[in-house]
Amino acid sequence: MWKKLFGGAGSRETFEIPAKDSPLFERINWEKLPRHVAIIMDGNGRWAKGKGMLRTAGHTAGVKTLKNILKTAIGLQLDALTVYAFSTENWKRPRPEVDFLMQLFSDYLKKELQEMHEDNVQIHFLGRIDGLPKSLQKQMRDAEALMKDNTGVKFNVAANYGGQDELLRATQSIAAKAAAGELKPEDITLSTIENELDTKGNLPVDLVIRTSGDLRLSNFLLWQSAYAEFWFTDTNWPDFTPEDFVDAMVDFAGRNRRFGGLKNT
Ligand code: IPE
Ligand code: IPE
Ligand code: MG
Repeated sequence: MWKKLFGGAGSRETFEIPAKDSPLFERINWEKLPRHVAIIMDGNGRWAKGKGMLRTAGHTAGVKTLKNILKTAIGLQLDALTVYAFSTENWKRPRPEVDFLMQLFSDYLKKELQEMHEDNVQIHFLGRIDGLPKSLQKQMRDAEALMKDNTGVKFNVAANYGGQDELLRATQSIAAKAAAGELKPEDITLSTIENELDTKGNLPVDLVIRTSGDLRLSNFLLWQSAYAEFWFTDTNWPDFTPEDFVDAMVDFAGRNRRFGGLKNT
């Protein structure tokens, strides 16, 4: 039913946050929801190719999916939703595609900012933001500032992000503090490292979702996913629906997370 009403890229423009008793959430085990979900939104290009369209049309379609899924995450009262929008490796793509994506991020922020704010979302950007176009950087900082006192879902958007690059920056920062005599090497703890990451203040990732059939992390949240569960689907991101997202939640609820210990029933 949901697929018909809201499915995929051809779906209508307006979405309501699903209520807790909405039919969409019938199968949800509210006691066993992940708190932090991370998504590798992959397959925009393949979706477009399959329809005989340009890759860029796939990216445009993917933005609509993102809006649906954020609304669903709000309805589920997740603590955090982190999405991979642009990796440190994505600069290898043809210049017109990169330029298109930068413009798309800018348009998305312009269009969705107010509604996200009204939805009590706390937006935050992960990655080397200073490597992005200047005007986009300003939009990102303004968006973070606007929503900084909100108390709803933490919506982290990874742009010019790489897990290895994040750890490199954290290491440089810690080394600089040590060299300045502010920190002794033997005093460095796991929290010291966590506090230097772009995700500072977030819970560890419970569930990583990747669309479009590839089974890899592609340099996403290497530290934060240390004990995450993984859920993969062949569905391309523009076709991914709230119902698919619920499927991932249901699967997660049935997992036995041992964290190196013994069966946790
Ligand atoms: C994911 O879709 C979006 C970005 C990486 C920006 P892709 O553009 O990677 O689509 P495929 O994987 O080529 O189909
Ligand atoms: C990962 O997808 C990055 C994003 C979804 C933004 P890619 O399409 O860039 O990953 P690879 O190249 O297949 O590993
Ligand atoms: Mg891809």
